[in-house]
Amino acid sequence: EKGGYAHFMLKEMHEQPKAVADTLNPRLRDGEIVIEELGMSDDEIRQIQKIYIVACGSAYHTGVTAKYVFEGLARIPVEVDLASEFRYRNPIFGENTLVIVVSQSGETADSLAALREAKANGVRVLGIVNVVGSSIAREADNVMYTWAGPEIAVATTKAYSTQLTAQYLLALKFAQARGLLNAEEIACMVSDLKRLPEQISLLLSHKENVQKFANRYLAAEHVFFIGRGIDYAISLEGSLKLKEISYIHSEAYAAGELKHGTISLIEDGRLVVAVLTQPSLYRKTISNIVEVKSRGAFVMAVTNVGNTEVEKVADYVIYIPETNPYFANSLAVIPLQLFGYYVSIGKGLDVDKPRNLAKSVTVE
Ligand code: M6R
Repeated sequence: EKGGYAHFMLKEMHEQPKAVADTLNPRLRDGEIVIEELGMSDDEIRQIQKIYIVACGSAYHTGVTAKYVFEGLARIPVEVDLASEFRYRNPIFGENTLVIVVSQSGETADSLAALREAKANGVRVLGIVNVVGSSIAREADNVMYTWAGPEIAVATTKAYSTQLTAQYLLALKFAQARGLLNAEEIACMVSDLKRLPEQISLLLSHKENVQKFANRYLAAEHVFFIGRGIDYAISLEGSLKLKEISYIHSEAYAAGELKHGTISLIEDGRLVVAVLTQPSLYRKTISNIVEVKSRGAFVMAVTNVGNTEVEKVADYVIYIPETNPYFANSLAVIPLQLFGYYVSIGKGLDVDKPRNLAKSVTVE
């Protein structure tokens, strides 16, 4: 049942505030992060020397963000792998390696095979899974559930948001166990996490603006998404959301890579979506916007409220509310999901069941 919404995707986008809160709240006790299902003592957490995050599609994109968060806060080296690559590449498993497999369905064939490969090598596997009792949930050593509820639309939205939330919590927990964040710093970041649901609601309430903008781009043939650091991870997801449901060719590029090839594709009227949520990288990405603009691109930017500098260079700016830069993905992805959705329905496509795609990829 679509609960009064035109499509499952729209309904599920609107369920994100609740899904994020439901994933967060059971793990917060008096400002402390408690993840019982992790089954690891602080001592065991301190021993972890390496994390592999393994997943497919959007779940993989949450891992790309989580790498920045784990490395930045907990100072543990993280490798993020596509499950279909990981399982065939003979990865090096050390004694103190943790493998995190992220999956909404818990049935993705390559992710399950990667889990089995890790377990066969005696490595501990933590599943971050949405479907209770699914194969990955059953076979992982420990499971941290994302409480998004059933997700029907092929294009993931609320599961993606809860996968991010679960990984933020883990990174904070690991950072605290390793003595890298004190109680006060944790409390401050937890209060930012608690504000996310209401901030997501605010962004969803501006959906008509995104729809108006999307309607101008129904005939686009190519769209490029650019960003640096976490903004690159956000770009990967924005690009996938658009292409899978609108059938428009889109690509995400680390903004600094543009001049190594992609910029040759920029011509008059080409839409470039630039993501700028990381203050330390603003200046660099702004200079990339200037470069594509001078080749005729039309630039839509997603940035933090207050970063009005961007208005001087971009053609259309969407602002996201203030949060810790590590958590900005949770907010910046909302207008990008809405953009993909409105382009798809504007073109009269079947947004919930795009051609050639299955909700759960149980074959290799
Ligand atoms: O069920 P999973 O999270 O393992 O699925 C992974 C991907 O198949 C999934 O995220 C896919 O990329 C979505 N269609 C993206 O919207």
